[in-house]
Amino acid sequence: MALDIDFVRSQFPAFSEPTLAGQAFFENAGGSYTCASVIDRLMRFYRERKVQPYSAYAPSRLGGEEMDEARVRLSAMLGVETDELSFGPSTTQNTYVLAQAFRQWMSPGEAIVVTNQDHEANSGPWRRLANEGIEIREWQIDPESGRLNPEDLETLLDEKVRLVCFPHCSNVVGEINPVIEITAIAHAAGAFVCVDGVSYAPHGFPNIGNLGPDIYLFSSYKTYGPHQGIMVVRRALGALLPNQGHHFNGDTLYKRFTPAGPDHAQVAACAGMVDYVDALAAHHGGGDLAATGRAELTHDLMRAHETRLLQPVLDAVKSRNAVRLLGPDQAERRAPTVALALNRPAEPVAAELSSHGINCGGGDFYAQRPLEAMGIDPGQGVLRLSFTHYTSQAEIDRLLNALEDVL
Ligand SMILES: Cc1ncc(COP(=O)(O)O)c(C=O)c1O
Repeated sequence: MALDIDFVRSQFPAFSEPTLAGQAFFENAGGSYTCASVIDRLMRFYRERKVQPYSAYAPSRLGGEEMDEARVRLSAMLGVETDELSFGPSTTQNTYVLAQAFRQWMSPGEAIVVTNQDHEANSGPWRRLANEGIEIREWQIDPESGRLNPEDLETLLDEKVRLVCFPHCSNVVGEINPVIEITAIAHAAGAFVCVDGVSYAPHGFPNIGNLGPDIYLFSSYKTYGPHQGIMVVRRALGALLPNQGHHFNGDTLYKRFTPAGPDHAQVAACAGMVDYVDALAAHHGGGDLAATGRAELTHDLMRAHETRLLQPVLDAVKSRNAVRLLGPDQAERRAPTVALALNRPAEPVAAELSSHGINCGGGDFYAQRPLEAMGIDPGQGVLRLSFTHYTSQAEIDRLLNALEDVL
């Protein structure tokens, strides 16, 4: 069964918004359009429930219930326990808080493995722990392909390593890393695992329980929702790390790593992302599946659609002399986040594309380390063309025509 793209697009008000007409959106890795169910919930919250939640009076009770609903339904969809999921302002901030917890839990001389493939969010906060005597070991990408080789990780592991951090998928290399395999290697060496799923989750919510990491982070403003960072911390690790919240909240797992007060309306509106997944699953015959099954069905539909659209884009750019395609040229091995190093600065090229009705970006996308490791000047940056399951064949055709003119 193929994804019903007309149904998909009908769920996104942006596609019928007059001010966006005639523009094809190719900067989805920076932030996606928002689905109607999220916008509806956000508006309802601000109109009807915008009071301190969790009291007995009706708007307060309903607001609190909706916030709980978001956590309960998201965690069920992701295959983890309800209290293992929490919300913060962004993935960068969530990682920062976790790094503080690890700083307090670890002893000088112990080690953390980071990569040079990650976005800075899952790199800098850990690397800074070097100032506290924590040894930082870098798992390095291949400078040509940008690939992380799991065999190289094995050589970095010993009894001192407490944590291995890596991305499910880099926001410039695009290759999907084998999370299950890498997690098994790290666990076998006695280390915990932190996965940045920000670039992967928009292409289908994963079953985090099956993938196996101890921490999985993603950002809901890239998964068709409001601007939040969503963080799964599995119970065994969450109970071990020192509480970063108010002392009286320390017994509640989902409050331990969110020192800021939550953004009530946005947390509540996150339930709309699950409404969307459920509507998509029901539309494609999966309405009776369990929550993880509905997510799996929609994940597979999205991936198949994206992969089909992606291959011609890769084929069109991979053999051009003045273009270096980062990451694999086989669509099934990667996300549709396509970074191109050019023989000139990328930003003016992105601006030129916008005059062809192609909205995309150029720059370093906070991925300076992987760009430098691949010999690309972050100042010159890369042109990034990123799409998702709601992208149509017509938009891809338009992109290919525009690239013919501009590259
Ligand atoms: C792969 C990746 N990780 C982390 C982040 C940071 O997410 P946030 O903006 O929620 O801090 C981004 C943002 O672009 C990203 O692409």
